[in-house]
Amino acid sequence: GGVGELVSTFPLQKERRVVLRNSGFIDPNNIEDYIARDGYQALAKVLSSMKPLDVIEEVKASGLLGRGGAGFPTGLKWEFTYKAPGEEKFVVCNADEGEPGTFKDRLILEGDPHSIIEAMTIAGYAVGASKGYIYVRAEYPQSIAHLEKAINQAREYGLLGKDILGSGFSFDIKIRKGAGAYVCGEETALLNSIEGGRGEPRIKPPYPPQKGLWGKPTVINNVETLANIPPIILNGAKWFKNIGTPTCPGTKVFTLTGNIVNAGLIEVPMGITLRELIFEIGGGIPGGRGLKLVQTGGPSGGTMTPELLDVPMAFDTLPKYNSALGSGALTVIDDSHCIVDVVKSFAEFFLHESCGKCTPCRIGNKRIVEILENIERGKGTRESLVLLKALGENMKATAFCGLGQAAPNPLLRCLQVFEEEFAAHVEGKTCPVGVCKLEKKM
Ligand code: NAI
Repeated sequence: GGVGELVSTFPLQKERRVVLRNSGFIDPNNIEDYIARDGYQALAKVLSSMKPLDVIEEVKASGLLGRGGAGFPTGLKWEFTYKAPGEEKFVVCNADEGEPGTFKDRLILEGDPHSIIEAMTIAGYAVGASKGYIYVRAEYPQSIAHLEKAINQAREYGLLGKDILGSGFSFDIKIRKGAGAYVCGEETALLNSIEGGRGEPRIKPPYPPQKGLWGKPTVINNVETLANIPPIILNGAKWFKNIGTPTCPGTKVFTLTGNIVNAGLIEVPMGITLRELIFEIGGGIPGGRGLKLVQTGGPSGGTMTPELLDVPMAFDTLPKYNSALGSGALTVIDDSHCIVDVVKSFAEFFLHESCGKCTPCRIGNKRIVEILENIERGKGTRESLVLLKALGENMKATAFCGLGQAAPNPLLRCLQVFEEEFAAHVEGKTCPVGVCKLEKKM
């Protein structure tokens, strides 16, 4: 196993495990352990008593929203793929989570690989696909090892391959490893990568349900999304809708990182607040320091400041506050950090990870980092801030894919929220928290 010690075992009142139901409790390398906890029961139910459209209706009725970060309705995606004309269709599991601070899918894959195999097979039955691919980042060797073992075991037990459980339905899964590029988590770049091409994004639409892998209808779901499928099928959509909020049902796995006492991951119902996550579950900020901001969903997500501590966390609530739930990464940043430095470190990440296909992202991130470096050195002016805002807005409007469009999110938000701190750097030539060494003109 190995994963048990990573998942908290002390009772946490607010914890509600759906996707981490087995993690730490079973030996992930033993299919019998999974079966003993209702494993493959949902697949058996689907194959013996449900038509593909029944499965799709159940997933639609559950209100499950995609957990990769965008929150698109999973059932709709399945329906689009089912309805798309074509003899050959595919199921792809996106296990290339690369958002800084995000490591939820890793724990699911390491701790409960069969749940993903079962869910993909159910998806295959629902949309009419007989082949699945799991695209896993190569930085997750343990996830890959557990998946390989699990796939072989499932084949031995007749749960993958030809004529599964004597139903006449056939489905099999292949693993594809990423090679370290963040952009390959973007679904169309991922598809190109599986096909053996460069990991560069495609234009959308057409979306993968219409034209996906090798141009064929493809349903592509995130690991955490898929892990919800077997319990939804077994317990029903109504059960699922009773967890979380009415418009964003279910749980969310949050990863707590940065300046927080209890770093790690926790699965809780949607609708929980940052205050509960950081100060109750997370044990607060070390050294009694103040909270400056929480970056939600990693650098490509949203920026939340202390006055938003009581906002319910869900896909539909955070955009009202110019923020985003994204992958569920929570990077807590205390008041000892300089905002210019924080924003620069995010920009450096995007600069490093830009695939270079489009100019706004390739050049925009480069210029943003340069300007922020100048501000840190005391060489910034009011004009620098105007330029940063214009660059960010242009990238948002014109970058080719989600990477470049999301890259300026923290910059634009922080320019607004921390206006005074930026102004102190460019006008007062001082860093209010004393991090930057500004050269002052004599
Ligand atoms: P998107 O909004 O374009 O699409 C989300 C999903 O819905 C995609 O699968 C897309 O194909 C589908 N979709 C949207 N409209 C559709 C339509 N009309 N018909 C059929 N399917 C449709 O967002 P995108 O660019 O795929 O993802 C952005 C999100 O990814 C952000 O929220 C960000 O937080 C998250 N993200 C997560 C990372 C991670 O490591 N988990 C890394 C980077 C970003």
